[in-house]
Amino acid sequence: MAEQNGRGIFITLEGVDGCGKSTKGRYLAEELTAAGREVVSLRDPGSTEISERIRAILLDPEVEGMVHECELMLFEAARAQLTREVIMPALERGAVVVCDRYCDSTFAYQAAGRGLSEQLVRDANAMGSCGLAPDRTIVFDLEVDESFERATRHGTDRMELDGEPFQQRVREGFLRLAAEEPERVRVVNAHGEKLEVYARMRAELIDLFPELGEEAV
Ligand code: TMP
Repeated sequence: MAEQNGRGIFITLEGVDGCGKSTKGRYLAEELTAAGREVVSLRDPGSTEISERIRAILLDPEVEGMVHECELMLFEAARAQLTREVIMPALERGAVVVCDRYCDSTFAYQAAGRGLSEQLVRDANAMGSCGLAPDRTIVFDLEVDESFERATRHGTDRMELDGEPFQQRVREGFLRLAAEEPERVRVVNAHGEKLEVYARMRAELIDLFPELGEEAV
């Protein structure tokens, strides 16, 4: 396990657009910080100057005609920069890294959603992650009609332009990953009040953070 290797802990948060993962990531970071941990909160794509610039291209709804292979490689390029520039050094220091999305999103969106070959996407992920894998991944699961309404309430980014059938394939992609790797990838029911959902997420992480105790504060 991560701690025994003398490094930090790498947590990733996943799910369809509008699943509520970012709010719960903030709650976790606050709680771990209060418990004395160094927490580094990140988003993928993003969180470095280069990766944020790539993100802007990827999400700009005015960018038209991007082919799936280009999209895949831009996500991986942003991730490689984030991984080597920020995530690896943070884990070396012993920090907890909480990252909003990572390679599992690429599997769900570019393979299950866009239809690129799964093997191609797995190989691309190996490069983009520089071989790093999360210690634990939370998939926030929600019916797509609910999550998509939430996601697009204040505007639609380029990835959301394909609408609900695309999001449905993405959701199924995440659930398939969880079935393949049940120890690492935990599905959390994302219905209900924020704190209720946070408590469910917390229960899936508590073995990694014994200092948190059983009850949320
Ligand atoms: P966010 O708004 O949750 O930060 O995510 C950005 C969008 O990019 C979201 O629609 C998911 C999508 N995405 C992919 O299609 N592939 C990826 O590898 C990642 C990380 C995100």
